Amino acid sequence: MKLTILGGGGFRVPLVYGALLGDHAEGRVTAVALYDHDPARLTAIARVLTEQAAGIPDAPTVTAGTDLDEALRGADFVFSAIRVGGLEGRAADERIALAEGVLGQETTGAGGVAYGLRTVPVARELALRIARAAPDAWVINFTNPAGLVTEAMVPALGGRVIGICDSPVGLGRRIARLLGADPARARVDYAGLNHLGWVRGLYVDGRNELPRLLDDPTLLESFEEGRLFGADWLRSLGAVPNEYLHYYYFNREAVRAYQEAERTRGAFLRDQQAAFYTEAARPGTSALAAWDRTRAEREATYMAENREAAGAGEREDSDLESGGYEQVALALMRAIARDERAELILNVPNRGTLPGLDDEAVVEVPCTVDSKGPRAAPVAPLPYHAAGLVASVKAVERAVLAASTSGSRRDAVAAFALHPLVDSVTVARRLLDAYTAAHPGLSHLR
Ligand code: G6P
Ligand code: MN
Repeated sequence: MKLTILGGGGFRVPLVYGALLGDHAEGRVTAVALYDHDPARLTAIARVLTEQAAGIPDAPTVTAGTDLDEALRGADFVFSAIRVGGLEGRAADERIALAEGVLGQETTGAGGVAYGLRTVPVARELALRIARAAPDAWVINFTNPAGLVTEAMVPALGGRVIGICDSPVGLGRRIARLLGADPARARVDYAGLNHLGWVRGLYVDGRNELPRLLDDPTLLESFEEGRLFGADWLRSLGAVPNEYLHYYYFNREAVRAYQEAERTRGAFLRDQQAAFYTEAARPGTSALAAWDRTRAEREATYMAENREAAGAGEREDSDLESGGYEQVALALMRAIARDERAELILNVPNRGTLPGLDDEAVVEVPCTVDSKGPRAAPVAPLPYHAAGLVASVKAVERAVLAASTSGSRRDAVAAFALHPLVDSVTVARRLLDAYTAAHPGLSHLR
């Protein structure tokens, strides 16, 4: 099996490779092709992978290059994990929104709209290239905003593109552990869009254990989302939201905390990663040790301002170890390649799963996966408050997709203005002006 990684010089590639190294079974990935437009990043990441593979006889081979068609040739799986505009672009997305008094975040609110507007045209082009060069490959999209970007790739790739995110998995695992259940045996009833979903139940042997958690304020406040949202609010919702809902339910506090932070998350990661790539290229240093240290620091500071605003304290040790991102990807590849049935929460076209959304709308829901790919499992409808948010944000995503097709500023303004976290059309217009001035990738909007 050959796996091609687009964005192969990206920081999280060693997580994926580390997971592959632990897979010794039949049908595993034996060749990894890294594609990136930046050769220096490729060299640094390839050094990390070489160190990871030391002493492992059946380690997948690694090739790295800047020729897309060559990397794609013969691929069975393609991971798309690109960042259009780099972390400098992310920092600008965040900064410009915060200066307007609205949320500046990678995937959520105005920052997410800006990132989507930049990324969709590139993702569509990549999808066409993959469809031509590797028509039989399964494409696993990690690129954020993951739901929107997956939907942008579907016209070229059909059912062969699947979006993934580690947030719902992490949430399900935390809840299962709290309830004393084995996360591998628990079925999580989760539904929504990427970074906009709710856990409504956790079933062990057919029994819903979530009410036990919601009835116990002490247990509720003993885990990350419990502390972030507070036991009382979770009991009002009767569900546990994805951590990204903190930006909606506590918007003022989150915006204020982000405005007061010394640097945005994107600026922090930009500086942190610049230091890592420099260090990893230096002869005589261990690229793997530098990567490990950098990764630990990234995990520990994830959503730090949100946690601070909520008085939620530090992250748990179990959340600092990885096992989310790469394990979902590996589980998905295994299920497809070996026809091993698995239940995974994935981003797939709705096709009747959630009422109120059309068939093409990509949603994040539990799916059954085998060699034919994922099939969304039936789920109960969302309550009005959640269905309303989901419909609003899907309308925003549709405006982003429309803007990328039409190149029209009017569609782009609509994308910002329709977002529930942007409170004025005037602000939406100013945001678009500022983003077009900052990002060369938006110059097509007229
Ligand atoms: C979560 C999200 C991902 C995101 C990651 C890293 O796992 O689900 O979509 O890429 O966090 O966030 P960071 O702020 O470290 O880039
Ligand atoms: Mn995610």
